[in-house]
Amino acid sequence: TNSNFSVHPEIATRTPPYGKLINNLTEVRRVLGTQGLTLAEKILYSHLDNVEDALGGRNGKIRGEAYLKLKVDRVAMQDASAQMALLQFMTCGLGKTAVPASIHCDHMIVGEKGADVDLPKSIEGNKEVFDFLESAAKKYGIQFWAPGSGIIHQIVLENYAAPGLMMLGTDSHTPNGGGLGAIAIGVGGADAVDALVDAPWELRAPKILGVRLEGQLSGWATPKDVILNLAGQLTVRGGTGYIIEYHGPGVETLSCTGMATICNMGAEVGATTSLFPFTSKMTSYLSSTRRAPIAEAAEEANKSHSFLRADTNAVYDQVITINLSELEPHINGPFTPDLSTPLSKFKEIVKENEWPEQLSAGLIGSCTNSSYQDMLRAEDLVKQAEAAGLKPKVDFFVTPGSEQIRATLERDETLNVFEKAGGTVLANACGPCIGQWKRSDISKGDTNAILTSYNRNFRARNDGNSQTMNFLASPEIVTAMIYSGNMSFNPITDTLPTPSGQPFKFSAPSGPELPSQGFEPGNLAFVPSNSAPSPSTPVVVSPTSSRLALLEPFEPFGTADLTGLKVLFKVKGKCTTDHISAAGSWLKYKGHLENISNNTLIGAMNAEIGEVNKAYDVNSDVLSIPDLARRWKAQGVSWLVVAENNYGEGSAREHAALQPRYLGGKIILAKSFARIHETNLKKQGVVPLTFANETDYDLIGSCDSVDTVGLYDMLVKGGDGEVFLDVTKKDGSKHRIPVKHTFSKDQAGFVLAGSALNLLSKKAAT
Ligand code: F3S
Repeated sequence: TNSNFSVHPEIATRTPPYGKLINNLTEVRRVLGTQGLTLAEKILYSHLDNVEDALGGRNGKIRGEAYLKLKVDRVAMQDASAQMALLQFMTCGLGKTAVPASIHCDHMIVGEKGADVDLPKSIEGNKEVFDFLESAAKKYGIQFWAPGSGIIHQIVLENYAAPGLMMLGTDSHTPNGGGLGAIAIGVGGADAVDALVDAPWELRAPKILGVRLEGQLSGWATPKDVILNLAGQLTVRGGTGYIIEYHGPGVETLSCTGMATICNMGAEVGATTSLFPFTSKMTSYLSSTRRAPIAEAAEEANKSHSFLRADTNAVYDQVITINLSELEPHINGPFTPDLSTPLSKFKEIVKENEWPEQLSAGLIGSCTNSSYQDMLRAEDLVKQAEAAGLKPKVDFFVTPGSEQIRATLERDETLNVFEKAGGTVLANACGPCIGQWKRSDISKGDTNAILTSYNRNFRARNDGNSQTMNFLASPEIVTAMIYSGNMSFNPITDTLPTPSGQPFKFSAPSGPELPSQGFEPGNLAFVPSNSAPSPSTPVVVSPTSSRLALLEPFEPFGTADLTGLKVLFKVKGKCTTDHISAAGSWLKYKGHLENISNNTLIGAMNAEIGEVNKAYDVNSDVLSIPDLARRWKAQGVSWLVVAENNYGEGSAREHAALQPRYLGGKIILAKSFARIHETNLKKQGVVPLTFANETDYDLIGSCDSVDTVGLYDMLVKGGDGEVFLDVTKKDGSKHRIPVKHTFSKDQAGFVLAGSALNLLSKKAAT
């Protein structure tokens, strides 16, 4: 252990600003009167930029209705999404980030043969991206966690999350920080940039779903089973628009890392985030991760102002009760995390559905389940089996969540036990959890079943094979089942044959929550030492790179209505962010807007000819959509897209707004929009408009010429006034189409300036 590591020098900057937050909370209570507050409301509302503006005069109608403008405390970014976030941040011309931020290199590291071989290879293969991230981090004073340091959410839990903190992370499992009582929300890169440039981040006030925990876990039941069970109750959409707030007597019995697992997987039910009230287990976790002063400050804030727990008269929009004492282990899947089966029924369900009887691999760890407690309980099972002379029947992979966890498990011989049993310890990174799993044991298309302690099990997510069925369970269940290799084995009730002829049955696993000797930091080179900005650092982007390209600010709107726009494409039916900016192999171009733009709208169906990704130029040339967009861009022709309902549903993918903008798109005219995408368009300077009469969709087609009427005026008036489109058809006939919009004053400013970032950098410069 290195003695320099005992108290992190930055500990003061990592303590949430409790004094300020409590003052704000007092103001919140003044505005809202005597109404009891949930914990989520306390933390969220105390981060409001202006309490009176957001909450005043609403007659209590806030949840699900009011828009909150929030000042967040911190930002964390993973390597894949950090690229565009940083490229956008750079166009603002600021010398440093407005709030502390960190970058984590974890998504691009392959899991195959083990950390020693895989890590250097992955670093080599992604060198230009890592070099770019590191140089930008240095220049702007962002903490850089290099490849091998660990997975974003584990490092955030070990270093940055704290009770009452509000943070944004550019990854959907950011809510993991709720295990330490933080409001931690997963967002897209453009949202993270809001926080980095000190612009308030906007969120529709979530509703609050209370989950009351009673009793106490015992035997084989784990925190993972709480969320596996809840996912079954809520389904993948049940948490949408909600924050899940845990409360009740059972909360006190859970370890801090167990609570993090539960919050992590709240993303699987679509929740905005999940969180737990402050408990003594948070204090012990903070202390053992060298942050005792933060625990003391939190205790103080909680004692004097009840800041870190719900009021006793708090009201939840919905309450679900789970009795931990009655909870049994669950296995969820395949292909969706909400298909939840209690272990005792699993055998039957496997038969009923004709799922493979044979297991092909077991994988434990990842950001969801690689705590000391998880690993020690798994080790206990491995030792039991080894003592009975048993060996795993299938491949067994272990992913430590961070270098700190890895080094601690190495010191305490846990990794040794796994390796002796034939397990492979992978790099401290996402690896198989995000499709970076190179398998040689099966071929593409082979139907097979794996068991993992991960959080997500969509098709092809782990090994790129859409026929691999990933079943999610606790690390304990995964570990026990690899000794059978059979999906119908129930480790609680069934026995296994042994070499001695004596049948063997596992005892329930046990293991300590925290290492008695404290955590081992491991390779100290991974700990970022200095986060002061270094303005003279050049940001490394090669002009010949195919993966990274600096961004130029978009041009401003101009000073008059738009004339001579042309309809590039008329979309029929569903058009999600996947149709607008496909994922898969395109992901490697996330930092290169020019190259990734070659996927723009390639999934969209042409309403006029019923074909995907085929567009017609005025002279009847047939081109792909991106090719026609590029041709028109080169000719100086701006364009619009016409679409149907819920345009842009799906993920918060900002590329779906950036790319059309980059290729010369000015307007998206749809029957309706998905809210997040509509906001993203405005942020990038594209105007989203909806038909006042949906049937007018039939009046407009590809290559029609369009002039706007009243649009410029409406933008200048900050969102006030009527807008029409004058459409001239190819045959010369004309129509005036009335349209609607949802521009706020701020958003009108974004479009006039060319983008939200242009506006912010203009403000920053004055
Ligand atoms: Fe995501 Fe990596 Fe966790 S891929 S789910 S952050 S292990």
